[in-house]
Amino acid sequence: NSNMLVDSFGRMHTYLRISLTERCNLRCQYCMPAEGVDLTSSSKLLTRNEIIRLANLFVSSGVNKIRLTGGEPTIRKDIEDICLELSNLKGLKTLAMTTNGIVLARKLPKLKECGLTAINISLDTLVPAKFEFMTRRKGHEKVMESINAAIDLGYNPVKVNCVIMRGFNDDEICNFVELTRNKPINIRFIEFMPFDGNVWNVKKLVPYSEILQTVDKHFTGLTRLGDHPTETAKNFRIDGHLGTVSFITSMTEHFCAGCNRLRLLADGNFKVCLFGPSEVNLLLVYCCIHLRMRVWNHSLRPLPPYVQLTLFSTMCCAQLS
Ligand code: GTP
Ligand code: 5AD
Ligand code: SF4
Repeated sequence: NSNMLVDSFGRMHTYLRISLTERCNLRCQYCMPAEGVDLTSSSKLLTRNEIIRLANLFVSSGVNKIRLTGGEPTIRKDIEDICLELSNLKGLKTLAMTTNGIVLARKLPKLKECGLTAINISLDTLVPAKFEFMTRRKGHEKVMESINAAIDLGYNPVKVNCVIMRGFNDDEICNFVELTRNKPINIRFIEFMPFDGNVWNVKKLVPYSEILQTVDKHFTGLTRLGDHPTETAKNFRIDGHLGTVSFITSMTEHFCAGCNRLRLLADGNFKVCLFGPSEVNLLLVYCCIHLRMRVWNHSLRPLPPYVQLTLFSTMCCAQLS
């Protein structure tokens, strides 16, 4: 397919992350200040229609996996409709979501009906009081309920994202691994990464090698599984466990060379890399093209290839030059 989105490093981009909102019903200390983040005015946020039209453009250019993120994607009122319309895009194989699981248990049956095929739930501690401290909200049992609801609905694996921070939850590594013994859970230990003002501190970073050592010491038969070149996680199995254990080594072993992700933010800004400073607003690019073409009406027809290429090269020039 000549429309494929290949960047100037030769990486083929087939995985789009769409942030549906900046809002969140938690206030994790490493992500947000207690009062929350400055929100983009709602008039500048992508509407459902714009999301679908942009996603359609990406899917017709080779994207086969879309992940919905936030903030917290489940608090968007039109989340079911968005899932339904995205899952109907021809060529899309996986429609996934990353969520904090606070309201997921209630919403998941409908989301599954609407075509959501994979689910990642964030959970950094198994101790309710620590959960409340870290997220500045209650809700630990709701997240546990959501994990179980996802398993009951047949999601396999249910991925659980756990950011390990020294002095906070590094004593819980084995308890998290225990979750995988009898359940189809993939526990993913994530190295703590620095973001703007998130009180990151190198002393809080527990490197992959250390987490791996802890797991290996306490469980027999820890074996590396193969992983796809584009995957950010290093995957392992443990003898006798139904689930699996993975490590996302953003800090100590970069995986940029194989990265195939694209990111569409809630305000229409677009970027290739999580850490990339530059963004291009697709809504603006799109409007310009739209105005110049004049004929592209409200149908979901893909834009002609030359427009797509212009679009992608604009983005990549801004991002990668
Ligand atoms: P899968 O598609 O199931 O592999 O999920 P994912 O790992 O792509 O997404 P998820 O939202 O579950 O993110 C898990 C962790 O990976 C988070 O801590 C992200 O910040 C981190 N992450 C996701 N994409 C990237 C990336 O491109 N670069 C880096 N360094 N980290 C990333
Ligand atoms: N370092 C590592 N992971 C982080 N996440 C949020 N902030 C950080 C950080 N500083 C994780 C969340 C969620 C995923 C989308 O990103 O815990 O699981
Ligand atoms: Fe940030 Fe996610 Fe925590 Fe919400 S649940 S505050 S988006 S890390």
